[in-house]
Amino acid sequence: MTILVTGGAGFIGSNFVLEVISTSGETIVNLDKLTYAGNLENIQALDGNPRHHFVHGDIGDPGLLTNILNEHQPRAIINLAAESHVDRSILGPGDFIHTNVNGTFNLLDRSLAYWQGLPKSRSKDFRFLHVSTDEVYGSLRPDDAPFVETTPYAPNSPYAASKAASDHLVRAYHHTYGLPTLTTNCSNNYGPFQFPEKLIPLMIVNALAGRALPVYGDGLNVRDWLHVSDHCQAIRVVLEVGRVGEVYNVGGGSERTNLDMVNTICSTLDELAPRSTFSPRSELIRFVPDRPGHDKRYAIDARKIEFEIGWTPRETLETGIRKTVQWYLSNMRWVDRVTSGEYRNWIAENYGNRS
Ligand code: NAD
Ligand code: DAU
Repeated sequence: MTILVTGGAGFIGSNFVLEVISTSGETIVNLDKLTYAGNLENIQALDGNPRHHFVHGDIGDPGLLTNILNEHQPRAIINLAAESHVDRSILGPGDFIHTNVNGTFNLLDRSLAYWQGLPKSRSKDFRFLHVSTDEVYGSLRPDDAPFVETTPYAPNSPYAASKAASDHLVRAYHHTYGLPTLTTNCSNNYGPFQFPEKLIPLMIVNALAGRALPVYGDGLNVRDWLHVSDHCQAIRVVLEVGRVGEVYNVGGGSERTNLDMVNTICSTLDELAPRSTFSPRSELIRFVPDRPGHDKRYAIDARKIEFEIGWTPRETLETGIRKTVQWYLSNMRWVDRVTSGEYRNWIAENYGNRS
């Protein structure tokens, strides 16, 4: 059996592909544009593996998609390709519309044509699983109940708006054409292979180098953290037993302020990498001007996926953060290689006007 995974050279995608290949007999076709966030080194362990086919390309390319679908005849498509960083969406929203909106539309359009051409025996089991985010629901106040699947959409950043648009297209393709879709809306992930522009890897990498740890605003914004392996597991179980047309929220039940997270990273590094002139690392924390439109709090109510499907996270925040810090300590050469000149330009652009 074959699954088409898009964005499988990115953070969640590479974790997903590595896990599926190592724990099942499934073949994966991995379509990725290799933007700054996609890195073939993430999936280097699969070099030469006959069950992994990498295709360099854009989900917005209709001819390429038609060829891939006809050639590989996947039983499912998992859409993880996206522009994913909120700060980048604020400084340049165009790429987010191209990939998250137009790209998802194109993927749906080509998937529909493919699905309609399948014999009944295969079309009934086909699934299109769209991976989305809790950011589509907007921002919670401190005492609000966590997001449920029926929380009204209220996206606040260009990134969140582009993901919301893609979710609506997925919904429409199910309701209008009957395409057998599934959507997952997940909270903040962390773990191996996360590009060091996101909070946790950025803080680890900066703290190791003795650079400032830039905390936006007062540091009291809250995120609900989930280890990437638990997200991958959730995607797998929803693919297998999720009800067609349904949405499943996925979250860690681990709400923390950003300041708490950064302090936890600092103390974990102080313990695991004690020989440093920058200890305690928490002294590197600097409060910098806030992200425009910064959402105050996200939190997921994951009872639907828990009660319907039986999924719960396996990692606690404590075990997950420790493993993640250890992974970065052991993979600083990966960090050096993915932080190219483009990365340095980004750091200058995003943080230059915050000092
Ligand atoms: P990422 O930025 O690390 O990876 C995205 C991947 O998509 C990269 O490999 C990139 O090269 C590829 N890509 C980008 N544009 C493409 C295009 N037009 N065609 C083909 N490939 C393209 O992102 P991530 O953190 O792994 O997120 C994956 C998905 O999960 C996204 O849809 C994101 O919205 C969602 N999500 C992420 C989180 C999180 O905390 N990281 C949480 C919830 C949901
Ligand atoms: O909630 C799910 C979303 O989580 C995903 O859909 C996104 O793809 C993913 O990037 C993430 O979005 P966030 O904006 O929450 O993640 P980020 O790591 O960029 O920031 C986490 C929090 O840390 C946020 O409140 C902003 C803050 N922050 C971030 C950076 C990069 C800082 O204080 N300083 C920083 O330098």
